[in-house]
Amino acid sequence: MPDRFYVTTPIYYVNDAPHIGHAYPTVIADALARWHRLLGDDTYFLTGTDEHGLKVAQSAEEAGITPQEQADRNSARFRDTWDSLGIAYDDFIRTTEPRHHDAVQALLQRIKDSGDIELDTYEGPYCVSCEAYYQDSELIEGAFCPIHTGKPVTTLKEENYFFRLSRYEQRLIDWIEHNPGVITPEGKRNEVLGFLRQGLDDVSITRTSLTWGVPVPWAQGHVFYVWYDALINYATAIGFGTDDERFATWWPHVHHVIGKEIIRFHCVYWPAMLMAAGIDPPHRIHVHGWLLLGGEKLSKTVHGPARLTDIAPSRLVDDFGVDGVRYHLLRDTPFGPDGDFSHERVVERYNSDLANNFGNLVSRVATVVGKQCGGTGPAPRADSPLAAVAAEVVAATAQGWADVAPSVALDATWRLIRETNAHLEDNEPWKMEPGPEVDAVMGDALEAVRIVAILASPAIPAAAREAWTRIGLPGAPEHQRVPDAVAWGSYPGGLAVSKAGPIFPRIKP
Ligand code: ME8
Ligand code: MG
Repeated sequence: MPDRFYVTTPIYYVNDAPHIGHAYPTVIADALARWHRLLGDDTYFLTGTDEHGLKVAQSAEEAGITPQEQADRNSARFRDTWDSLGIAYDDFIRTTEPRHHDAVQALLQRIKDSGDIELDTYEGPYCVSCEAYYQDSELIEGAFCPIHTGKPVTTLKEENYFFRLSRYEQRLIDWIEHNPGVITPEGKRNEVLGFLRQGLDDVSITRTSLTWGVPVPWAQGHVFYVWYDALINYATAIGFGTDDERFATWWPHVHHVIGKEIIRFHCVYWPAMLMAAGIDPPHRIHVHGWLLLGGEKLSKTVHGPARLTDIAPSRLVDDFGVDGVRYHLLRDTPFGPDGDFSHERVVERYNSDLANNFGNLVSRVATVVGKQCGGTGPAPRADSPLAAVAAEVVAATAQGWADVAPSVALDATWRLIRETNAHLEDNEPWKMEPGPEVDAVMGDALEAVRIVAILASPAIPAAAREAWTRIGLPGAPEHQRVPDAVAWGSYPGGLAVSKAGPIFPRIKP
């Protein structure tokens, strides 16, 4: 039986166009899905858009269109952007779809029936940008949102249906304590435990102040608060309420990839809702940091684009190619901490790892095979000094992806590129006469390129395919199976190796 892997991204608000911050978790989830497909796992990759709530309704009003028009317009922009980044999702969910309304109503009705949703009144400070209530103690200077620095909160008072979250405090603590790896990295797990130990209030989950939402089936005039609708997307997409068998097949294997600002929703409210509905809490939640521009997530800086949210992923694709952008996002900012985004860093990473290491290796190999081996790639040696390196690289790459540490996985893969380039520099095959000696060196280098093409394909699928084709191999790297296909020695020899322009032309800093 193959393993299963179900990976999700946050579903993005459609109040505006996608920016590079949204591309970060989406490319990570895509690469993880591609890695698991290489492993032969049954894999399902879900992304989508979060279309209800006050924020979307207000942005539509400002744009002078209906919320549905706003959602249609911006949801399409997310899909187009993901296409331009080579994102191979299996499903793109929109929370305005009927299938989602059905699942939301079914799941929340179940919680209502179990007695954990009741009518009550709530008043408190609310941030529209977050679509979330805060405690007075959490506000900056008593008046501003802690996430959206400088944005004043508003006071909302409503008679609403409340989810009895307070009843789940101990069960949530037990769940996290009994499953040490459930929230990663570990610092984020401790943050959630700390929050839980302070005690939980019940949460308001319906609204009467707006109509743009999923109707509450038991109360006319109420819609569900956007977050309690949005979280359920992860269940909708795998058949909750419509196909119980399908849901049961995928749910135990879910991995949520999320940003650090939505940790409470995913690590507290969502697992509690699932428990209340008699469903297991999520299998894994992977929490990443923010990409910052000049040290700030949203605010203005002097240089370059005014805000990180002004950086359109497709503009970067024009400058660096799809694989240049993907590689930067996966390699430059380790998963977990915040990272600084800058144009200079993208250029540096591109030139060093892609142009000078990967691209140069493929070009060199093709050039030398063309001149010294008559254009026909020789087979590798079983006792090549690179064989042991390759075995270590495969193990370290696999561990990196298993740990949801793309930068670690890619650094491991790139070791084989570096050592193969060093192997060529030590042996200088370009100075050799045609014959068995040069064939031996080049056979080893071709085998290393073959293995790298497979291991790097989750990150740079187009370039990996190109390298694969240039060394004469049929099919594509993403159709190979790890670990069998990355065992040393499979490059058959006797294939036509083709020379062409650089896969990653150098970019002027
Ligand atoms: O919060 N750096 O949607 P959203 C890194 N709809 N990642 C960033 C980022 C940045 N500067 N900016 C955004 C929502 N992200 C809800 C989610 S899920 C059921 C509902 C990424 O459009 C990061 O993953 O505000 C963050 O959690 C997500 O985009 C939020 O996107
Ligand atoms: Mg947000």
